[in-house]
Amino acid sequence: MKKIAVFASGNGSNFQALVDAVKVGTLQAEIGLLVSDRSSGAVLDRAQKETIDYFCISPRDFADKTEFEMEIVQQLKSRAIEFIVLAGYMRLIGSTILQEYPESIVNIHPSLLPAFPGKDAIGQAIDAGVQVSGLTIHYVDAGMDTGPIIAQKEIEILPDDTKEELQKKIQQAEHVMYPEVLQELFS
Ligand code: GRF
Repeated sequence: MKKIAVFASGNGSNFQALVDAVKVGTLQAEIGLLVSDRSSGAVLDRAQKETIDYFCISPRDFADKTEFEMEIVQQLKSRAIEFIVLAGYMRLIGSTILQEYPESIVNIHPSLLPAFPGKDAIGQAIDAGVQVSGLTIHYVDAGMDTGPIIAQKEIEILPDDTKEELQKKIQQAEHVMYPEVLQELFS
């Protein structure tokens, strides 16, 4: 069974969906670690409640990004983590982690990439007035939301949809699709 680490910075609803999928057996993986770049947040409460090992790390405590990532890699290796799942991790993965985990890092992004990369993808889609957006699951490379695409799902935007409504629709789809796609990758 793949031993994975989830990286998340905030709410962690996708982390929860992965935990739940592991519990019911639809995702056959072991979540060996949650990594957060913040010392508080709902995702940490979720990890505690689910008794999943977690590790908080702030880049401010390190001289540079290389040292920051070297510490993360050490934590991952000490737990024999084989695969990294980004789920709302608000930081670019740098070369130190990328080199240690080639083709073994995936991300979920709330737009149909290459449209609307980066921050506030849902707000960007609403502001652009598009009728369809969605979500993308992709491998991570050195760019911002640029790695090879694994799966996408379209979500219709209704004329009166607010940002909050679109976010809710996209996240509901994410919670179903992320565990499914990971299970396919691992099997
Ligand atoms: C998700 O919508 C994901 O697409 C994006 O960040 C959001 C994280 O939400 N990368 P949550 O923390 O999993 O609730």
